[in-house]
Amino acid sequence: MILPILNYPDKRLRTKANYVNTIDETIQILIKDMFETMYAKGGIGLAATQVDQHLQVVVIDAPDSQDEYKLLLKNRQKEPQKQRPLCFINPKIKKRYGQEKHTEGCLSVPNFQAEVQRYNHIKVEALNEKGEIFTLQATGLLAICIQHELDHLKGILFVDYLSKLKQKRLLEKTKKMTKN
Ligand code: NI
Repeated sequence: MILPILNYPDKRLRTKANYVNTIDETIQILIKDMFETMYAKGGIGLAATQVDQHLQVVVIDAPDSQDEYKLLLKNRQKEPQKQRPLCFINPKIKKRYGQEKHTEGCLSVPNFQAEVQRYNHIKVEALNEKGEIFTLQATGLLAICIQHELDHLKGILFVDYLSKLKQKRLLEKTKKMTKN
C-alpha cells in the first residue's frame, strides 16, 4: 500500500521516533508499505516519520553514484529499479569521519534540492526486518542517505542545515505553492 507522505513544514515531521521493541507483523507491513511508497515516489530513502509513523524504521535503496542520483531526481515520477533494498530498525551511527558536500532532496520537501555537508564514511548498527543485528560501513551516497534518513527519526530535515535566509525563502515558496 502506498502511504501518504507528510510535507514540509508539517509539524509532525518534527516528532522524535520511538524505539521499536518488538518486530511484529505490524512493523513488517509498515516496512513493506514504506518500500512500496519509496519506489512509487522515486525516492532513495524513507523514514517512518515521513509517513506519520513515529517508530525508528528506515528503508533505503540508494544508487552508488551521485550521477545516478541526479538522474533519479530528474525522473522522480519514474519508478526506479530495485537494486539494494536495506531496512534499518533502531539504527545508530557508531563511527563517522570525513566531510563531503552533496546535493540532497527529500520526498517531504518536493521540488527542492540543496547542498548539505555530511560525513562521507560512517559505520551504522541496526536491526534488519527479521530482528537480526547488523553493522554496515557506508561511504558516498549511501552514507549521505543513511544520515539524512536517521535525521528524520530525530525530527531533523536537511533544510535545517541551510542558512536562515534560504530557509525563509523555501518557506515562502512552499506557502505560495500550497495556495495555488
Ligand atoms: Ni528526507
